[in-house]
Amino acid sequence: MSEMWPAGYVPVLLARISRPDSPAIDGYLADGGYASWKKVLAGIATGEWTPSKVTDLVKASGLRGRGGAGFPCGLKWTFVPPKEKRGNKPVYLLCNADESEPGTFKDRVLIEKDPHQILEGMMLASFALGVRHAYLYIRGEMVHGAEVLNAAVDEAYAKGLLGKNVQGSGLDLDLTIHRGGGAYICGEETALIESLEGKRGHPRIKPPFPAVSGVWASPTVVNNVETLCCVKHILDRGPDWFRTYGRNEKNTGPKLFCISGHVERPGVYEAPMGIPFLELLALAGGVKGGRKLKAVIPGGSSAPMLTAEEVQSMPLDFDGVAAAKSMLGSAAIIVMDETTDIPKAVANISKFYAHESCGQCTPCREGTPWLNKMLKRVVNGQGKRQDLDLLVQVASQMGNGMTICVFSDAAIAPVLSGIAKFRPEFEACLAKAASPDFALTAPSDVTEKVAGRMAEGIHS
Ligand SMILES: Cc1cc2nc3c(=O)[nH]c(=O)nc-3n(C[C@H](O)[C@H](O)[C@H](O)COP(=O)(O)O)c2cc1C
Ligand code: SF4
Repeated sequence: MSEMWPAGYVPVLLARISRPDSPAIDGYLADGGYASWKKVLAGIATGEWTPSKVTDLVKASGLRGRGGAGFPCGLKWTFVPPKEKRGNKPVYLLCNADESEPGTFKDRVLIEKDPHQILEGMMLASFALGVRHAYLYIRGEMVHGAEVLNAAVDEAYAKGLLGKNVQGSGLDLDLTIHRGGGAYICGEETALIESLEGKRGHPRIKPPFPAVSGVWASPTVVNNVETLCCVKHILDRGPDWFRTYGRNEKNTGPKLFCISGHVERPGVYEAPMGIPFLELLALAGGVKGGRKLKAVIPGGSSAPMLTAEEVQSMPLDFDGVAAAKSMLGSAAIIVMDETTDIPKAVANISKFYAHESCGQCTPCREGTPWLNKMLKRVVNGQGKRQDLDLLVQVASQMGNGMTICVFSDAAIAPVLSGIAKFRPEFEACLAKAASPDFALTAPSDVTEKVAGRMAEGIHS
């Protein structure tokens, strides 16, 4: 895998990743690391630095969360109730390093190659939020990443950057690395909170939102790894500098993109927010083997699929991808060339969602395996003429607020967009079913029964 940026672009988030021993604190300090943290700590006593000043800088930068939804970071921080309203309840910061969205592998690079960048971002965010104990929840399978982070935390304590009375500032701050349960749903912020509390990673009904009642029923802010890294750079260089990246004030900052699939050089790329899709594709060496582009999933498997025509002039930022009726999500760009069998790709993605549903909500628990079974029968040439309409009808009843979390909406996005944009390919699969063999491989009664129930909208 390669990590790169456009010619002439000076990397910010990936600036240190190729340094020898880049995770070590000595190199980080030599590169000016922790200057912002020390600056803020030194300015507490004089009143030069206050929590609201840090929050205001983050708000002014226009930083939007890099975890998927693109919610404005500084605004989210302001949802934490003030001391007079929350009483003695502590405030918690959770750094979301669960990174499990198919096609997403950007946070892993930051974790393994430059952990102090993340820790400094967490320290600054903790100060802004009045946090005394911050947690980083890392995907269970990232064993090496957890080791790197734990070593970095130990180094930070040893240098007096964490702990009691940090740098004589009067401020106490602890930071704990918590290894996750190994389920995709644990990346959803309320499931992450449940998992951190030692329970099953089941999403909670919102409201209350975590900022009001999160971990241990206390106000909690959940932010993505890359978001918190951006906080560190905003404090280093200011919001005006941050806003120089991007097409407009709603889409700012340097951005990591994960490109995978049919490209010559898959990997993590850093570029200014809003880089045109075609430029990023060129950076990744173009479509593999010089073949033609067929489809793109622009923001992880939960983002609706786009056709080659739809991405021709698409800027890769929150609003640019939304204008194309998809989403930037985790900026995981999955490229599919002309040889891709779209029905098979959609069936494959649906298997993931069928496996990962937490099972709390009937439409999601019953619907995700049903979609997978139906898609499998379509791609195997065993489908019926009405299957596509039935798939669309059932999938349509699984989203739009019918469930506790948006996992169900994510599960239907590839199905609905795949069928809408590549329907002739699905119909060609059904045409195979017209063969004499079809009668021998008709779907089971159970499938028919579930399909009937789902189609009638009986979900619970
Ligand atoms: C099913 C699901 C999985 C998610 N997985 C992740 C994840 O692995 N990492 C992440 O940062 N956000 C993930 N999110 C988004 C989080 O719920 C949350 O919005 C995010 O961590 C907030 O951080 P941000 O504001 O910095 O983007 C997921 C959301 C859903 C619905
Ligand atoms: S939508 Fe799916 S993943 Fe989300 S809470 Fe309901 S069952 Fe669980």
